[in-house]
Amino acid sequence: MKRREFLTLSSVAALYVITGYGGGGDSSTTPPGGGSSIPPDDITTKALPIPELLYPTDREGRKHYDLNVQEAKHDFFNSIETDTFAINSTYLGPTLLMQNGDNVSINYKNNLDELITMHGHGMHVPPSMDGTPHQPISPGATWSAVYTVNQKACTNWYHPHTMDKTAEHVYKGLAGLIIIEDSESRSLDLPKRYGIDDIPLVLQDRNFNNGQIVYNPGMMDIMRGYTGDTFIANGAIEPTLDLEAKEIRFRILNGSNSSVYELGFSDGRSFKQIATDNAFLESPVEMTRLTLSPAERAEIIVDLSNALNQTIVLKEFRHSKDFITVNVSKSATATTTLPNNLTTLTKYDPSTAARTRPFVLSGMMGSFEINGKSMDIGRIDENVLLGDVEIWEVSNEMMVDHNFHIHATYFMLMERNGSAANVAPNEKGYKDVVYIPSGESVKFIVKMTDYADDTVPYMYHCHFLEHEDAGMMGQFVVTV
Ligand code: C2O
Ligand code: CU
Ligand code: CU
Repeated sequence: MKRREFLTLSSVAALYVITGYGGGGDSSTTPPGGGSSIPPDDITTKALPIPELLYPTDREGRKHYDLNVQEAKHDFFNSIETDTFAINSTYLGPTLLMQNGDNVSINYKNNLDELITMHGHGMHVPPSMDGTPHQPISPGATWSAVYTVNQKACTNWYHPHTMDKTAEHVYKGLAGLIIIEDSESRSLDLPKRYGIDDIPLVLQDRNFNNGQIVYNPGMMDIMRGYTGDTFIANGAIEPTLDLEAKEIRFRILNGSNSSVYELGFSDGRSFKQIATDNAFLESPVEMTRLTLSPAERAEIIVDLSNALNQTIVLKEFRHSKDFITVNVSKSATATTTLPNNLTTLTKYDPSTAARTRPFVLSGMMGSFEINGKSMDIGRIDENVLLGDVEIWEVSNEMMVDHNFHIHATYFMLMERNGSAANVAPNEKGYKDVVYIPSGESVKFIVKMTDYADDTVPYMYHCHFLEHEDAGMMGQFVVTV
């Protein structure tokens, strides 16, 4: 087993506790002997790293993004270098900037010594360009996702989708953001200065053993999903961020394997959510806490114009962790004024739905199923007709939380637990992942508008990566 190479004798005991009974990896996992899974006194306070904004290079009439998926060493700590996987960097990857209508080619070169696939999460693309387990990239090979960007402005992301190995590959550091702009997003008076007032945030948690990332979840970790005790933002442990006293836009990705984050600011200040997974909301939604399950994105605007010289912490309240300490240390060098109308969303009429498709999430002790079946790459589970409006009803019949993701399209929530009144205002947008706590259900409306293909399927699955790898995934083809 490759992952055993990362273990030393002294870390075996620590690993036992983290993956073993009861600990589960929630907060404060302490190995025997009183140590911590974080080397003590070894974390310097770092500035929040801002992933490189990767503009494409024009070749043969296409915009190319050249990405090297590689082994690397990353400085989470002062005295220990951590072995990671990364894309053009030492942890995570660059942010790909795309314009709606661009003809793009995302070229993934696999420099690892194992097979991967790379998926554009939230990208509206043909199934053969989706980067699922059906588009493997062998060691040494390059695979290109070639398509025309055809969707509204939003924040998407790319990550491995390797059969049975997605969780491990993401855990070691493979993920990056994709920013799509369109004429609407370009014209709105929103913060747009990347890294200055438009801040990308990939939020994750990890368990470290002697400074190394070890992915070896136990049975309980697989049941509940693997949660780390160390919270990181853009690959830094509890970093600081110096900001101007003005409106700030955060593009937030829950990039964790299986943790649900409840985010808010230490002084209780409110903020406005302006975008869900796949588009702007029609109007900003004011809130003080934002819940994001794995793979969900939110763009928020927080007004710091009254906070010059204050320090405010972006906190995670379910695990009582600090993600980022924000120092509002600079006067504004430009201003923005959040508009009230952001976009217009297409709403399908439920009375035009061709059918309702039920999906039941169930399982026990390491086996995870949708409608009684574990993922089989050779089986097509659902046939969806191009252009049909459909209602999908997903129920979580388990004692643990799940979420549900569909590839290549977005949906709009109709009901939670049988009632439209349970759908929160900030969920009334284009979504591609929906959180479904234990025992709950959701109903959403969806339409596959493009890219029929009889043979190559798309996936739907729980995006708690331990559950996905354990079989909570299915395949559908879109046909005419
Ligand atoms: Cu984020 Cu099937 O993926
Ligand atoms: Cu996806
Ligand atoms: Cu799940």
